[in-house]
Amino acid sequence: MNTKNQNIAAKISAVSGWVPDYVLTNKELSKMVDTSDEWITTRTGIQERRILKDPTKATSDMGAEALKGLIKKSGIKADEIDLIICATVTPDMLFPSTACLIADKVGATKAFGFDLSAACSAFLFALDCGQKYISSGLYKKVVVIGADKMSSIVDYNDRKTCVIFGDGAGAVLLEPSSKDEGLIDSILRVDGSGSEYLKMIAGGSLNPASQETVKNGHHYIYQDGKTVFKFAVTNMADVSDEIMKRNNLKGEDVDWLVPHQANLRIIDATARRMELDSSKVMINIHKYGNTTAATIPLCLHDWEDKLKKNDNIILAAFGGGFTWGAIYLKWAY
Ligand code: UT7
Repeated sequence: MNTKNQNIAAKISAVSGWVPDYVLTNKELSKMVDTSDEWITTRTGIQERRILKDPTKATSDMGAEALKGLIKKSGIKADEIDLIICATVTPDMLFPSTACLIADKVGATKAFGFDLSAACSAFLFALDCGQKYISSGLYKKVVVIGADKMSSIVDYNDRKTCVIFGDGAGAVLLEPSSKDEGLIDSILRVDGSGSEYLKMIAGGSLNPASQETVKNGHHYIYQDGKTVFKFAVTNMADVSDEIMKRNNLKGEDVDWLVPHQANLRIIDATARRMELDSSKVMINIHKYGNTTAATIPLCLHDWEDKLKKNDNIILAAFGGGFTWGAIYLKWAY
């Protein structure tokens, strides 16, 4: 939906990220499953990922750390926050929502909040959602968090998935802005016919937890990587191209592509289609792997120092569902 006609635009006014200390390297993984540093690096671009080892900590703890960083940086008070949207596919529990737990952990006593489930595209969907609350004129400080403890749903005996994912969290603050900056346009899509290729089979209302589901490993991620790869390459590039065209942007007009970090080959294909030089593409997959909802805010966090006011930025993602999308924004500071 094009947001230009709405009265109040939303800008990202601060960004923060948090990853756990423990570094799980390709070398360590190659002692756990039949894989190699060479295979993982050439097929995915990943060299290491962070893992939240403390069994008493969960997604809300990482989200809370990211939000504490955001509060410190932006100078806002926790009780000024109106809304927390937490994009995640690994909530601490099915309910209460992770957003409730994060609000409690940071003292956001006047906020409401909810979780948003759209797998790897969830941060984009949540950002677009937060923008609508700002545009309504009723909310002034909306926090959008992408956080996932992927290690909690990864089978570390399955070399097809365990090398890919990592844990982390990122957060942005959305505030009202003048019309010529902030979030400008978004294209978001779902296609549930792709659900069979990337999913967690059990733990929901279709297949509640049972001895059988545990025995069959149905509480872990299942991915048909080849098929997901095909759809990801096409759809992420298509949607990025579409958002550029309808905003009259050429490759040279785009300052940064912030792609979901699932596979370096998918990122490269998207950048090529946008005719972007690789120097304009944010890539941190080598150090964090795929942190699902956290990849995009973690990129913004890592690149924050290099961003300039009015930079044209395209965010793009593809993930389970299938879900995918792109957002065009002008950096505001
Ligand atoms: O973020 C959400 C969306 N997810 C994605 O976008 C992920 C998209 N998919 C991918 O990124 C890639 O498909 C993977 C990285 C998951 C896999 O790479 P691939 O090049 O598609 O490999 P493949 O699944 O076709 O497997 C090729 C071979 C197979 O062996 P055979 O059958 O050719 O003998 C696999 O068994 O590589 C084998 N293999 C491995 N070998 C060493 C699979 N995983 C590993 C591994 N180490 N970790």
